[in-house]
This record gives sequence, C-alpha cells and structure tokens, in this order.
Amino acid sequence: NKGKYEHYMQKEIHEQPESLTTTMRGRLIRGGSCKAKSVLLGGLKDHLRTIRRSRRIVFIGCGTSYNAALAARPILEELSGIPVTMEIASDLVDRQGPIYREDTIVFVSQSGETADTLQALEYALENGALCVGITNTVGSAIARHTHCGVHINAGCEIGVASTKAYTSQIVVMAILALAIGDDTISSQARREAIIDGLFDLPNKVKEVLKLDEEMKDLAQLLIAEQSLLVFGRGYNYATALEGALKVKEVSLMHSEGILAGEMKHGPLALVDETLPIVVIATRDACFSKQQSVIQQLHARKGRLIVMCSKGDAASVTVGGSCRVVEVPQVEDCLQPVINIVPLQLLAYHLTVLRGYNVDQPRNLAKSVTTQ
Ligand code: UD1
Ligand code: BG6
Repeated sequence: NKGKYEHYMQKEIHEQPESLTTTMRGRLIRGGSCKAKSVLLGGLKDHLRTIRRSRRIVFIGCGTSYNAALAARPILEELSGIPVTMEIASDLVDRQGPIYREDTIVFVSQSGETADTLQALEYALENGALCVGITNTVGSAIARHTHCGVHINAGCEIGVASTKAYTSQIVVMAILALAIGDDTISSQARREAIIDGLFDLPNKVKEVLKLDEEMKDLAQLLIAEQSLLVFGRGYNYATALEGALKVKEVSLMHSEGILAGEMKHGPLALVDETLPIVVIATRDACFSKQQSVIQQLHARKGRLIVMCSKGDAASVTVGGSCRVVEVPQVEDCLQPVINIVPLQLLAYHLTVLRGYNVDQPRNLAKSVTTQ
C-alpha cells in the first residue's frame, strides 16, 4: 500500500524518520543519574566477548548493503580498535580469500537471500569464522544460517532501489560499534554524543526531507545530462558510492561515486565546464581537505553542486560560484544517514522526470537469488 505516495521508493524515502525509530526501539538506553547511556542488541549479547577477541572484523555484502557497511566502517574501527576490512561477496568467493577461525564476519543483506552473500556465508562457515547477520528479513537464509545477528526492523522494502534499509543498516552498525567498543572513561563523551545523536536522528531526517522540492528543481536541471560524478571521503565515501548507485539504478543516468582523495589519480581528467559534479563537504575532520578539493575543481571550471552543513554555504563557495545544498549537521559518524537523503530524492525525481520505472528499474531485481 503506497498510501499518499505515487511510488514505493518515494514512500520508503519519506518514511525514514519512522523506520529509523523502529530500528532503534529498545536498543538505546537513556542512562540515569548514575547509569551511563548505553546500547543493547539482544541478538548479540552472548557473542560480544568473542567478537571483541577477534583478530579482525570483515564486512561482506553486495550493492547498497555493501555501501552501508562501508559507511559504518570508520566508527567500528574507532570504537573497537579491531581492524575492519570490506569484501564484496562475489569477489571474496572468486578469490577464495583467506578467512580464519579468529575472524568475525558480518553479512549485511536487506533481503537475507542474496545468492552471492549466501555463498560467502557458506564459505566463511566452512572456514570456522564467527558469522554475524544484519538483515531486514526475519526467517531469511542469512538470519537462519548465521551464528547470531541483528534484525534491522526497517519494515518491508518494496522499491528495488534500497533506501530506508540503507539508513537502518548504518544505524544498526553504529549501535554494533557501540556494543563492541569498550565503555572506557576516555571514550565516554564520544559514546554519549553518538547515543544522543541516534536519539535525535529521526528528527534530523525529517528536517532533511524538507529538501524534496529543492531536489526536484535540481533534477530538472540535470534531466538531460549523460553523467553525474559524486565526490566524498571519510565517513561520506560511502555516501558518494551510494548516491551514485541510486542515480544509476533508477534514473538510468551514468553516475560514479569517487573517493575525493583519489581525485588527482585519474578522475580530474574528466572535469570540464559541462560535467555536473556533486561534492559532499559537510563538517567533519576532512572538511578542510574537501574545501581544497572544491577549489581545485573550481580552478578547472567544474560544474559543482556542493552538499554542506547548514550555515556553511559561504565556506564552500570560496573561489567560484556553485549550487549549494545545506543539510542539518549531526555527529560525524551519523552524517551519512542524513547526507544520503537528498541524493535519494534526487535519484527519485530524476527518474520520474526522465519517465523511467521507479520501483522496478529495467534489468534489475529486488533480490538476486541466482548467480
Ligand atoms: C527479539 C525479537 C523481538 C522482540 C525482542 C524483545 C525476533 C525476531 N525478535 O529482538 O521481536 O521484541 O527480542 O527483547 O523474535 N539473528 C541471527 N542472524 C541474523 C539476524 C538475527 O542469528 O542475521 C538472531 C539473533 O542472534 C537473535 C534472533 O535472531 O537470536 C533475533 O534477533 P533480533 O530480532 O535482532 O533480536 P532482538 O532485537 O533481541
Ligand atoms: C540487488 C538489489 O542488486 O541486491 C539492490 O537491487 C541490493 O538494491 C542488492 O542492494 C543487495 O541486496 P541485499 O538484499 O543482499 O541487501
């Protein structure tokens, strides 16, 4: 039931304040006068000691689920101190890459039925690793075959392009990072800031959804383009990949997410006065580096659309004029949840304006159960 919406993708984008609330329900503990704020993941509590002792954590997924894990990787590394590596499911299987008993492998899959991810799971089980699932589907193959895990509880997702599951996956993995990380005195302020940020996140998502009309205008401007680049780094490298994936999946426009740190190693050759480029430059430790990326793109007459934190427009337009999209600022590790929303809206409006099928893009399936 699409309710007041025209498409499932549109509905699922707009229901993210609610889906995130459901994802977090019962999992955040407010703390009291003498009790610290904390988190609870019922499905993992008996396995946390094993996970903390593991030699490394490996995230495995495909498509949007891989991107969600990439978005959560920095905070998991920071809070756990354990090396975290990333694997695209099919690539791990193709290489038969080394997996050890001392590894914790986290399988991220909205459907819980993706063939490549399941094959990687089978392989990791054979190699004796602890296998953790993060899925939206109770009773799915991933949920059944992993040793333990977390249901993201985002509610049924129907649009082939994943939107609300992506933001819920990131939130679950941020909670996972808090659950694995030690509650030391030195990390307390950071942990509390993240937990406060999680409590407030649905409100902030409501706020960013107000950019709907602005994104429709931007889509109108980009309607006839051949290609769109999206530059991000740090916490928002994943946002660049996921934003570009949304645009290419549904609007059928070529789009590429680029790690801004790699700009000079190839992508800069593409920059001219015609190719539109989205640069994600919200406030975090990488902000000044992104300012310098913007200046260098300006110097080559790049056609820029800059996403920045509210009130920062003047700090990101130095050196030239460009279109600016201002988003609410949240704790740095949660910013990917906010920043993807305008790009989801852009992909949606581009698709409608270009006249393509939003909920079932050509050649794609919601759940890829064959190889
Ligand atoms: C569980 C209940 C929830 C209830 C809550 C009350 C289920 C599905 N969930 O939620 O309805 O409100 O207790 O405390 O009954 N698991 C895997 N692999 C996965 C995902 C999950 O093995 O990929 C396992 C978990 O380890 C856990 C079980 O499935 O044993 C349920 O996981 P989850 O729903 O996340 O647990 P709770 O949040 O505790
Ligand atoms: C398919 C879907 O390619 O599978 C994508 O079209 C999705 O939206 C990908 O991200 C992975 O699916 P899942 O269910 O394993 O998260």
